[in-house]
Amino acid sequence: MSEAARRAHWRDLVEGRLPEAARPGWPVRLDHCFARILLDNTCGGPWRDQIRPPAHANMPLDRLDAAIALGEAVLTGHADLAFLNRRSLAWRGKIAPAAVPDALRDGGLILRRWRPDDTAPFAALNADPRVMAHFPRPRTEAESAAEARSCDLRFVADGFGPWAVEQGGRFLGFVGAFRIMRAMPFPGGEQIGATIELGWRLARDAWGRGIATRAARLTLADLAGRCGIRAVVAYTAAGNDRSRAVMERLGMVPSGTFPHPAVPDGPLRTHRLYRLERAEVTA
Ligand SMILES: CC(C)(COP(=O)(O)OP(=O)(O)OC[C@H]1O[C@@H](n2cnc3c(N)ncnc32)[C@H](O)[C@@H]1OP(=O)(O)O)[C@@H](O)C(=O)NCCC(=O)NCCS
Repeated sequence: MSEAARRAHWRDLVEGRLPEAARPGWPVRLDHCFARILLDNTCGGPWRDQIRPPAHANMPLDRLDAAIALGEAVLTGHADLAFLNRRSLAWRGKIAPAAVPDALRDGGLILRRWRPDDTAPFAALNADPRVMAHFPRPRTEAESAAEARSCDLRFVADGFGPWAVEQGGRFLGFVGAFRIMRAMPFPGGEQIGATIELGWRLARDAWGRGIATRAARLTLADLAGRCGIRAVVAYTAAGNDRSRAVMERLGMVPSGTFPHPAVPDGPLRTHRLYRLERAEVTA
């Protein structure tokens, strides 16, 4: 489909099909409200912080496609509009943000909310080809800064997220939980927002000390105890043995493979899925 056709599809969706389909349980009925909800949830925060209006003209095409997919999922019942609206309103300060502890601790290992001075060490590890070997490419400084911001905004919307990991006063990367906000091709993954994923990325010199595993155990205990979340998944490119070893140390169960929809065709596309059901892990 051409760029013009995709942009026209977006306008037809938010200006026509969604308002016309408005149902009794839906919190909004106006076109700009549908656009706000879909764009905020695609951007992981208030969309105007990232995109110059008007969004229908300026939204990068890959993200416009993601926003369209989210809107189509609302229409088919695979995404809950009220839930997406609450996330958007929390980011905009219109409803109270989720309550989140400042930090989780295991001895000298600290999982905490992100700070502005994490941006530089995060950019350094995201530019390291060894750390990014199983991703399509390393991140630029701007992409890395945007990722750090969106990591912290997840706590505001969901009450949990990828924690900044600190030890000995040094930022080492992140470990934590992500609500999966796109449809995924594995059982349960079709309902957007319903599945929680564990994830981790540490600076190269922090590997080999058990930090990811300890931090993931802290995360799981917090998810179960504070958030009532006991089922999680994790997945990684099939060749990422270190990441799979963390999943196995956590007692996660191999659950097949799937083609990652955001990864281009090639050797990194096939991902191995692991599941943990009713986690009883203590930190
Ligand atoms: C994935 C990643 C976080 C795993 O890091 P890691 O250091 O291998 O994993 P852990 O922190 O659990 O440490 C395990 C190692 O520490 C050792 N260790 C020491 N003390 C330990 C403890 N208390 N508990 C567990 N392991 C311990 C283990 O024996 C193991 O050693 P090994 O390196 O010889 O295998 C890291 O490789 C990474 O950041 N990779 C790049 C980003 C990435 O690919 N992320 C995943 C995308 S899906």
